[in-house]
Amino acid sequence: MLIIEGTAALRQQISDWRQAGDRIALVPTLGNLHGGHQSLMQLARRSADRVVVSVFVNPTQFGLGEDYENYPRTLESDRAKLMEVQVDALFTPPVSEVYPNGHEASTHVEVPGISDILCGAFRPGHFRGVATVVCKLLSMAQPDTAVFGEKDWQQRTVIRHMVEDPALPVDIQGAPTVREDDGLAMSSRNAYLSDEERRVATHLFRIMELASTRVRDGERPY
Ligand code: PAF
Repeated sequence: MLIIEGTAALRQQISDWRQAGDRIALVPTLGNLHGGHQSLMQLARRSADRVVVSVFVNPTQFGLGEDYENYPRTLESDRAKLMEVQVDALFTPPVSEVYPNGHEASTHVEVPGISDILCGAFRPGHFRGVATVVCKLLSMAQPDTAVFGEKDWQQRTVIRHMVEDPALPVDIQGAPTVREDDGLAMSSRNAYLSDEERRVATHLFRIMELASTRVRDGERPY
């Protein structure tokens, strides 16, 4: 597996692959990889000849008081997980490469409406940070396809708009949520849950399953 830090080197590698007729997939991540991420890479592998995974803890999507400083940076174990699913290249750009003018002065990408509801209502600026960094990573790698988890439904919708509105030439794919044995969706931040919170969190999945079964069976709330 190649390890690439700079955009120029990434573009050169991707251009060599493309000249050889290869189709390229990008899987953007924040690192601290788990089985859910590996399923994104497996989907990427099925739809492309070369899979590039970016690991970049993006400062602009973390709000004040969120966990940017403490977000787990686990590059060594991430590399091992990437090799298990035969990724071709790991892209780890430094902050200075993604935000060369500092992130305060940087151009932002805003997807109105969908960014401001649901999770966005509680995390002002979060989806602006996500849309901005994904736009930059797509521009750096110029992949044919990019894969995101359906677990983050709102994020995936923001990214779809960000790509479809300006007709960016990349196919966005969603990969199904991967769950622990007790139904909890796999997520890097599950590590923050206490035993009690971890137990309660599984109810969410069970309640959603139950509600969807009842609606499918014709039950209506009124
Ligand atoms: O879902 C994530 O891991 C991040 O929000 C993403 C899409 C890599 C952007 O930093």
